[in-house]
Amino acid sequence: MRVNLDEAIIKLQNGEVVAIPTETVYGLAADASNDDALRQIYAIKQRPADNPLIVHIADINQVNNWATGFTPLAQKLAQAFWPGPLTLVLLAKPHVSNILRGNHPTVALRVPNHALTLQLLKQSGLALAAPSANKFTQLSPTTAAHVTASLGDVVAVLDGGACEVGIESTIVAVTNNQNGESWQLLRLGMLPEANIHAVSGVPATKTKQVIKAPGQHAQHYSPRTPIQLFTSRAELISHANRHPNVRAVALLLGAGAVPNCTYFVLNNNATDVAYKLYDTLHKMDALNAEQLLIEAPPNATEWLAILDRLTRATHR
Ligand code: TXA
Ligand code: MG
Repeated sequence: MRVNLDEAIIKLQNGEVVAIPTETVYGLAADASNDDALRQIYAIKQRPADNPLIVHIADINQVNNWATGFTPLAQKLAQAFWPGPLTLVLLAKPHVSNILRGNHPTVALRVPNHALTLQLLKQSGLALAAPSANKFTQLSPTTAAHVTASLGDVVAVLDGGACEVGIESTIVAVTNNQNGESWQLLRLGMLPEANIHAVSGVPATKTKQVIKAPGQHAQHYSPRTPIQLFTSRAELISHANRHPNVRAVALLLGAGAVPNCTYFVLNNNATDVAYKLYDTLHKMDALNAEQLLIEAPPNATEWLAILDRLTRATHR
């Protein structure tokens, strides 16, 4: 069910859930300070209770309502990258609901870069908890139609068009102890590690995960159809040739063709692929094939987040 901005505000203020657009993926939103509303998110997504939610806020000034750990390093990152596809995991204030943070001591925060949702956040006066608006482990939605396909027409959706970035935010945990401030990458996204390094002035801490992002299940972002990744196009084509009786759909990164096989082609450019990735996987999945054959991107910095999503999508 589609709703407009005013209807979305009323529903959210009444403790109902509404799917909202962001620049990364659509989120299933509810009032972050209303436990009953938060419970509905977990129920609709069929998400385990120990997998915490990201709180979406209108601007940087709201961080202190939720976190005690808005340290100088965290402030630098927020100033540099918000609104934008960066989520900061910080020490939570004691009042922050355990349902929201899955009993973790931290809270995840971000200012999304989407005009309609920024208006929604400002006009409603709410902070909105929102995980991606899909069933647990399924493909994330980047259009209003994807949300309805995954969650059904009973869920209200504020349609803000196709998400510009196309894959989920980069998640960074910032910690402060006797050794000073440090940061860790909890989830790759299209905001590159190098940019975070440049702004923070220190490299990411790679050893021993101080904080974990519990939602990083190996099987995630999965289409219903089994999916296989190929490190070269030649291998993909040879696989398709060797299994002529398996109904397969292929995805190529860059111009080309797969003989005797249905195939999709995306521009061989990480920004373009991120923008189209979930939509293309949704379309491939809808063809009810027996197998999806994907040409893997190179193992190069700008492709790492896409490679991460595709690798998780192959696990089942
Ligand atoms: O781009 C995005 O981040 C989208 C849009 C809607 O903002 N949201 C999103 O939410 O991808 P979700 O719930 O699908 O993924 C959030 C991830 C999960 O892996 C969760 O475990 C992690 O963030 N997370 C949330 N709160 C956390 C916390 N306090 N500590 C560590 N990880 C946390
Ligand atoms: Mg998700």
